Order: sequence, then structure tokens, then C-alpha cells
Amino acid sequence: MNQTVLLPGGAGFIGSHIAAELLDLGYEVVIVDDLSNARPDVIDRLEKISGRRPVFYQADVADRSALDRVFTENRIDAVIHLAGFKAVGESVQKPVAYYRNNLDSTLTLLETMATHGVKKLIFSSSATVYGAENPVPYTEDMPRGSCTNPYGWTKSMIEQILSDACVADPALSVVCLRYFNPVGAHESGLIGEMPNGIPNNLMPYITQTAAGIRAELSVFGNDYPTPDGTGVRDYIHVVDLAKGHVAAIDYVNQHTGWEAINLGTGCGTSVLELVHAFEKVNGVPVPHRIAPRRSGDLAFCYANVDKAARLLHWHAEKSVEDMCRDAWHWQENAKNL
Ligand code: UFG
Repeated sequence: MNQTVLLPGGAGFIGSHIAAELLDLGYEVVIVDDLSNARPDVIDRLEKISGRRPVFYQADVADRSALDRVFTENRIDAVIHLAGFKAVGESVQKPVAYYRNNLDSTLTLLETMATHGVKKLIFSSSATVYGAENPVPYTEDMPRGSCTNPYGWTKSMIEQILSDACVADPALSVVCLRYFNPVGAHESGLIGEMPNGIPNNLMPYITQTAAGIRAELSVFGNDYPTPDGTGVRDYIHVVDLAKGHVAAIDYVNQHTGWEAINLGTGCGTSVLELVHAFEKVNGVPVPHRIAPRRSGDLAFCYANVDKAARLLHWHAEKSVEDMCRDAWHWQENAKNL
């Protein structure tokens, strides 16, 4: 019997790529998503990619009776929890909404899992939990730092909640996957990142600028202590990231307790390096100018990826060029979807 994996928040950018990998590998996939930041036709597109249709519930993960129905109607083996608000800037404007939504959905999920005896959980965490205090490359044994925004704090708090839950229930198995900067898209061009309004993140801003939707990209600061003065990040192809989740399912199936694991490439790329790689691989210009620093940004953020290799037997395989090519393919293809 194939394993059934529940993806709360599974219709979004990262969740849809995980769903595509799981469907391809023969897992049964159940998605619960309120579609607050995803389109309903993503389910059709997943079916187009894999030839199999995930079970889909349109519901808020914090809706206890809706979630209970999902667990009653499906025999869930493991959960990959991706539901949550994720816009850093918006979280500063609406902190209470972020704490309410991200913590509530997690607590409701944990309670419902307990009621139904489900013990395997993978949580969508973020490199942001390292805060500003730790030196790069980040290793998982570093203490979580002070986050610069409420979004980051929700990730840090949820990690703590999950760690406490594992102490109380020795049968629980939780892996918090700390994502670095997921970019790119599925090579089919059928799923990818679809930000509402003006993108906050660099890659969708680059693709929209290349497509002429935005006039020019603002490069936030060129006076950081980095080789070319612009911010350095660990960009990871979303398909590699999705494969890291599949590896984490194997891990939670064989272990109990709480672990945090970085999902990155271990390599840093600056804003200008990414812009130039994108222009070169796709043959399109990305008009850009230097702008002031964005508040809360760090000079460097990249992972030590040894723990993922050791525990998950996983490492990222795709290059920055792959990320740029697939992001552009998606941007061009999404016009017709
Ligand atoms: N940048 C620009 N111009 C833009 C957008 C971004 O120059 O228009 C720069 C930023 O200053 C930064 C880099 O591009 O140096 C990456 O910025 P992103 O907004 O794409 O990503 P961040 O590293 O700021 O944030 C990401 C995730 C967050 C997560 C954080 C820390 O989006 O969810 O990493 O792990 F919290």
C-alpha cells in the first residue's frame, strides 16, 4: 500500500512542486489549502504533469472541523506542513494576523494529528531562524537567533513548539526543514511561483522585469561587505528542495524526535551575479539600478549542507543557470495558463 502524505498549504509554490515529486513517485497526495495565495487550477496542472490527481480540500488549516474531516476521510501516514503567511514586509504591518494564522494552523494541525494518531511531520521552516547573530555558513547546531520580522518569529516559534511536542511524545518524529532561497520552477513550465501583486523576492522580480511587467529591478544596496557589494544568498532550485522533502519522509519514517535540517546548496550568489547569470542563460536584458539597502537584510545568508547529506542522503543538484532558465520558462509559459 502506498503511503499517503498530507500537504497543508500544498497548492502554493513549494507545496505544488513537492506534490509533483510525490505523485511521480507513486505516493498518495492529499492537499488542504484555502487558496489565499494559490490558484485552484494548480490541481489540474499537477494532474497534467503526473497523470495522477491529488485529493484536494479547499479549507483553512486552522479550521478544526474541516481538518478533522480530512484525517477521517484519508489514512494519513505523514504530513508536510507548508500552510502559512510568508510575506516578510507584510508581517511587519500585520503582526497579529501573522501570529494568529501561522501559529493557529500549526496548533490545530498538531492537535488533529494527535487525535488521529499521526506521528510523522515535516515542517516548512526557514533560514531566517538563524537571525542576525550567527556567522555564515549556518549549521543546525547554532542557536536560533533574533528574527528581524514577525514572519521569521512565527517560524522560530513553531520550531520551538514542535521541539516541545517531541519531548512530550517520544513517538513523534518531526523534521524542520530550513529553506534558504527557493527559486526556479518545474521544467514542464506548468507550475511555478505566482506572487500576488508586486514581487517581494528577487527572482520573480527579475523575471517580471525581463518580461517588461516591471520597468527595472532595484538592487537593494551595493555597499555590503561582499565581493561585489550586493547581498549574497543561497539560491536553491525548487525541484531540488522538493526532493529534499521526499528524502525527509524516509527519514521521519525511520526515526523519532526533533531535527532541524538546512535545505540549501551551500553556495552563495550575489544579487548582481544572479542578474547577470539570468541575462546570459536566457539572452534577455534585466534593466536594473542600485537602490538603498532594504531594512532587515543581511549581507550574507548561506547554508552548511553537511547534515542534509548525512541524515537525508540528499544534496541539491541543479545549478544557478538551471534556476534562471526554469524561472524564465515559467514566466513565459504562465502567460498562457
Ligand atoms: N533584492 C533586491 N531587489 C529586489 C528584491 C531582493 O536587490 O527587488 C535582494 C535582497 O536585498 C537580497 C536578495 O535580493 O539581498 C534576496 O532577497 P529576497 O527577498 O529574494 O530573499 P531574502 O533572502 O530577503 O528572503 C528569503 C525568503 C524569506 C526568508 C529569508 C531568510 O524570502 O522567506 O530568505 O531565509 F525569511
